[in-house]
Amino acid sequence: MQLFIPRCPKCLGILERNGDTLTCAGCGEIYSVKHNIILFLDSLPLKEKVISRKTFFDNIAETYDNSIVSIVESMGCKWRSYTETLEDIIRTMDNKIILDIGCGTSFPLASFLPDSTEYLGLDLSSAMLTAASDFVSKDVNATFLNIEAEKLPLSEKSVDVCLSLFSLNSIPEPEKVVEKIMQVVRDGGEFIASFPVSPSGIHDNDINSPIREEVLEGLFYPLVKDRWKVSYFQCGSIRIYRFLKG
Ligand SMILES: C[S@@+](CC[C@H](N)C(=O)[O-])C[C@H]1O[C@@H](n2cnc3c(N)ncnc32)[C@H](O)[C@@H]1O
Repeated sequence: MQLFIPRCPKCLGILERNGDTLTCAGCGEIYSVKHNIILFLDSLPLKEKVISRKTFFDNIAETYDNSIVSIVESMGCKWRSYTETLEDIIRTMDNKIILDIGCGTSFPLASFLPDSTEYLGLDLSSAMLTAASDFVSKDVNATFLNIEAEKLPLSEKSVDVCLSLFSLNSIPEPEKVVEKIMQVVRDGGEFIASFPVSPSGIHDNDINSPIREEVLEGLFYPLVKDRWKVSYFQCGSIRIYRFLKG
């Protein structure tokens, strides 16, 4: 399998591979690679708050797959309905470059990836990525990026599809990430995002805390303003948005 080589998160310079490291041709920073996981965070300074979020998600990685099933069901959506909807979307993505922001363990999504996809899983938690790397089929060309989504190290219009499943609601400044997503998705590409939505919800970065519709409208306003076509599917209080870049 060939590693997808992203850009340098510090200066967006070109990264050159040398065995188990990537070196930036621009700033000279060196990043290590373990199997198919690029460990950007090991080379970058991290704020205390980011370390504690990373530790939180590292600690729940082992039990995450069971938890997400219970969380989805607790939101009034049968697990089977949720996975069938995801499957219908993902199965059509032959030959696409898919960026999955806050991919976690890539469960259950990776079960539906066509072998022809190039899958880029990005997550703050290295423990989540280790589980994802084990779970994604060896027939899929997969690269994992251990970095904050806010520092998305990809060049403009470099991916066909960006996914963010239950992750933008776990990120402190999701609007910054939406801005990056708008840049990295190519014309004609898609952005797919799932959220727990509720009229009385609050965005407090808890993984199962629902978000109010008005908050989402604000978050997605830049996409609508830029004429991305929007549709959504609702299951219980879970909403899966699809945005098509015109
Ligand atoms: C609730 S889980 C969602 C996992 C998976 N996408 C799913 O559908 O079940 C949220 C994920 O976002 C990741 N995450 C949280 N903050 C992040 C950030 N700033 N940048 C990248 N990933 C982040 C967490 O490590 C965690 O794996």
